[in-house]
Amino acid sequence: MGTIAVRSHLKNVIAIYPGSFDPVTNGHLDLIQRGSQIFDQLIVAILHNPDKNPLFTLEERLHMLREFTAQHDNVRIDTFGGLLVDYAKTVNANALLRGIRAISDYEYELQMALMNRKLNPELETVFMMPAVSYSYVSSRLVKEIARLGGSVTGLVPKAVEERLHSKVNGK
Ligand code: PNS
Repeated sequence: MGTIAVRSHLKNVIAIYPGSFDPVTNGHLDLIQRGSQIFDQLIVAILHNPDKNPLFTLEERLHMLREFTAQHDNVRIDTFGGLLVDYAKTVNANALLRGIRAISDYEYELQMALMNRKLNPELETVFMMPAVSYSYVSSRLVKEIARLGGSVTGLVPKAVEERLHSKVNGK
């Protein structure tokens, strides 16, 4: 026998899709759509980290994500602070969802998944790949392009694009 304890079959899988979502991209929305199809419930949890100085406030991110995921009955949006494993306990989650775009994501994601497993062995991390057309999209690059006056059309929802432009133009 290996070292894996046999656990009962997981039913009613509640997964958390955690992240900064500053701002939400079409890649995030693609992953939420995929996650909503395989998990019973999916909680998109926005990290509240006062040290990070985000471009979009927590309320703006919450509001935008709610608007863009309203069509999924089993998806809800929430915010969290502190350790992800502690938040997972409060919402009875048994899985974490993370997106992997390219091999370069893997090292950091593996480290985080194994650390979270060390903190709570019963919380399983599941990796999913977004559509290949979003494999190069990141919130960081989207913000940089918008700041420098480039087009982010097709990378984020139209409403995000408009808000990004008014943010970077100081309106
Ligand atoms: O979208 P991001 O910024 O890549 O998301 C990172 C996030 C929010 C998943 C990660 O920073 C996180 O889980 N933070 C909460 C604090 C925590 O639990 N840290 C230990 C992780 S092993």
